[in-house]
Amino acid sequence: MKILLLFSTLVAANCSEQLFVGDQVLRIVASNKEQLTLLRVLGEQEELQVDFWHHPTSPGHPADLRVPFSSLQAVKLFLESNRIPYRIMIKDVQELLDEEKKNMTKPRRTERSTSTFDFASYHTMEEIYNWMDTLVQDHPSLVSKLQIGQSYENRPLYVLKFSTGGSNRPAIWLDTGIHSREWITQATGVWTANKIAEEYGQDPSVTAILDTMDIFLEIIANPDGFAFTHSSNRLWRKTRSLNAGSRCVGVDPNRNWDAGFGGSGSSSNPCSEIYRGPHPHSEREVKAIVDFILSHGNVKSAISIHSYSQMLLFPYGYKTTPAAHHQELNELAKKAVSDLAAVYGTKYTYGSVVDTIYPADGTATDWAYDQGVKYSFTMELRDTGRYGFLLPSNQILPTATETWPALLDIMVHVLEHPY
Ligand SMILES: *[C@@H]1O[C@H](CO)[C@@H](O)[C@H](O)[C@H]1NC(C)=O
Ligand SMILES: [Zn+2]
Repeated sequence: MKILLLFSTLVAANCSEQLFVGDQVLRIVASNKEQLTLLRVLGEQEELQVDFWHHPTSPGHPADLRVPFSSLQAVKLFLESNRIPYRIMIKDVQELLDEEKKNMTKPRRTERSTSTFDFASYHTMEEIYNWMDTLVQDHPSLVSKLQIGQSYENRPLYVLKFSTGGSNRPAIWLDTGIHSREWITQATGVWTANKIAEEYGQDPSVTAILDTMDIFLEIIANPDGFAFTHSSNRLWRKTRSLNAGSRCVGVDPNRNWDAGFGGSGSSSNPCSEIYRGPHPHSEREVKAIVDFILSHGNVKSAISIHSYSQMLLFPYGYKTTPAAHHQELNELAKKAVSDLAAVYGTKYTYGSVVDTIYPADGTATDWAYDQGVKYSFTMELRDTGRYGFLLPSNQILPTATETWPALLDIMVHVLEHPY
């Protein structure tokens, strides 16, 4: 029976698609510095092929590790023999993936108009791009689509522009999906784009914001990675650029920015999930945003949306020195997470990257801040690890809905504090 089931899973899946049958995600809590070091060493054993979904930070704080079925015994033995406590968060990664796929292919109503688009499901790139065109058609005097560049595999890098006119108005930049496997972020980007378009002229805050400022939103900031998560490997995080002299593909597009590039909060190993790339802005997907923000010259806020761990973060990640506007950013983050929690009780932590999680260098948020974009944030959406990157689709609407007041708080603050 077991063999039959396994066989049917194999047949059902595309042949080129990577399977994660029997893979588990373990939550591991190192209780001291030595155990923390052991965990980091474990992560670097290439033959184990483990993947930290949430990196170890400090003793007492949980790390989440996906372990391939073939390495499970070895990893568990290692943890047990070093008395490092762990528990199983996801018993079988493939089971969740199968369920996710089933949910995506459920028959849906026609998607020709934005009013029938299913915001509560995950979508392919083609579906999202078609929907974006419909949004532009439905709101021609507010929404337009720009192309800011091309990906490594020559896919267009599209940005939605929300503008009521003027020239080179102060602007807010939002991106989702720079890490391709963080599917809740692209889904939240779609919902948010629709919300902005619908609330202009209705919601006084949105109306005031768009009467003075423009909003730019890049929903699929890493299209090569996103396409790859649909075709071949649901858990792909990086870009898809080839690395000279290595069989490992891709660069972490959130370690590739020219902000403390090359420090200890990233890796020089092309096989690492946090590989920083050969030089700053080596990734076209990153360079396109850099060029856009620099040539625009009037971007006042940049918010990069990730998952998971429920955090609202601001600079710095590459150094421990507090940002010049630490106090103001901290107050604003506090308000935003409190308004977010008011919706469904979802609790976020907040603070600078280095204080809240760990040193990370070459990040978008630090780069934007160092370029003078004062209101620079990174958001980590749901959840805190029960499902991690595989957040069930029935959490898309609640996640997007609760995130909205937090985004609005930041945008209103920018409006009220011109600089
Ligand atoms: C699939 O959809 C059902 C019904 O909404 C939900 O209970 C389940 O959690 C979803 N699973 C995934 C993996 O999205
Ligand atoms: Zn991310």
